[in-house]
Amino acid sequence: MRAPNDPTVSDLPSLMRTRGWADYGLLDSGNGRKLERYGRFTVVRPEPQCLWAPALPAEVWEAADAVFDPTDEEDAGRWKLKGKAPESWPLGWGDVKFNGRFTSFRHLAFFPEQAANWEWLGAAVRGAGGQPKVLNLFGYTGVASLAMAAAGAAVTHVDASKRAVGWARENAALSGLAERPIRWITEDARKYVQREVRRGSKYDGIILDPPKYGRGPDGEVWRLFEDLPELADLCAQLLSENAKFLVLNAYAERISGAALSGLLADKLKGRGGAIDWGELALVQEDGAREIGMSFFARWQA
Ligand SMILES: C[S@@+](CC[C@H](N)C(=O)[O-])C[C@H]1O[C@@H](n2cnc3c(N)ncnc32)[C@H](O)[C@@H]1O
Repeated sequence: MRAPNDPTVSDLPSLMRTRGWADYGLLDSGNGRKLERYGRFTVVRPEPQCLWAPALPAEVWEAADAVFDPTDEEDAGRWKLKGKAPESWPLGWGDVKFNGRFTSFRHLAFFPEQAANWEWLGAAVRGAGGQPKVLNLFGYTGVASLAMAAAGAAVTHVDASKRAVGWARENAALSGLAERPIRWITEDARKYVQREVRRGSKYDGIILDPPKYGRGPDGEVWRLFEDLPELADLCAQLLSENAKFLVLNAYAERISGAALSGLLADKLKGRGGAIDWGELALVQEDGAREIGMSFFARWQA
């Protein structure tokens, strides 16, 4: 039963659409693959949910600069490039700049569908006024952290991977945000949050995008379905009295926006505000198709 001060929960999902921008576009999709543009490179990647036929002729697909060849059901594999692969190349989303990279996990060192979250987070930070203190857990290469820093937040960015944090710092420098108040922390997300709860630290906004499975720097095992309830509970304890948001994102199969909203409703009882939930989707440049990419639920005061 919902008590009067529990958050209200949307009864319908929302679709947060990313339509592409100067440095990114979903050009076409079909036959289990997608064709995308990342700055000067066109790229073909597996996308099993694209069950339809592609719209563009085969020659356009064949002309792609890079094709990801998966070696297993998970994300591993290798890139086949027409020319020499650069170590990285600069891309941007508005004022936020970051490097594209051909990683061995089939992505390009950022997740374009997250642009819908970057936009929302930037607006939430600006709406909060002053310099809200925000936490980005599992922050990877830091684009969400930079979008929030650019909007005026003091950011704590946490990721287990030293390399990812190094890339995130490079992205901050590329964006001209290196002098902003951003704390870069290489640590297990759960350990960090447990310590922050013990210290009595508080945050005005939190975003977390945990993988299905991961490891902390000292081999700590992260399993989404086993560990997310406890982490969400700890994050709820970290919210300041005037906190503005808590955003949860997940890519795992078998998760859903409805499930994530159920978790937030459970952990944020008595906090008031509202929870909405749904999917993040990429919209093809011709507008003909959209691909659901990840699930989200978010609480806003
Ligand atoms: C799905 S990516 C997050 C994507 C990111 N939010 C973005 O939009 O670019 C998962 C990240 O979680 C990190 N990770 C995995 N296990 C972790 C753990 N136990 N603690 C902290 N970070 C972890 C990985 O290093 C990786 O950078």
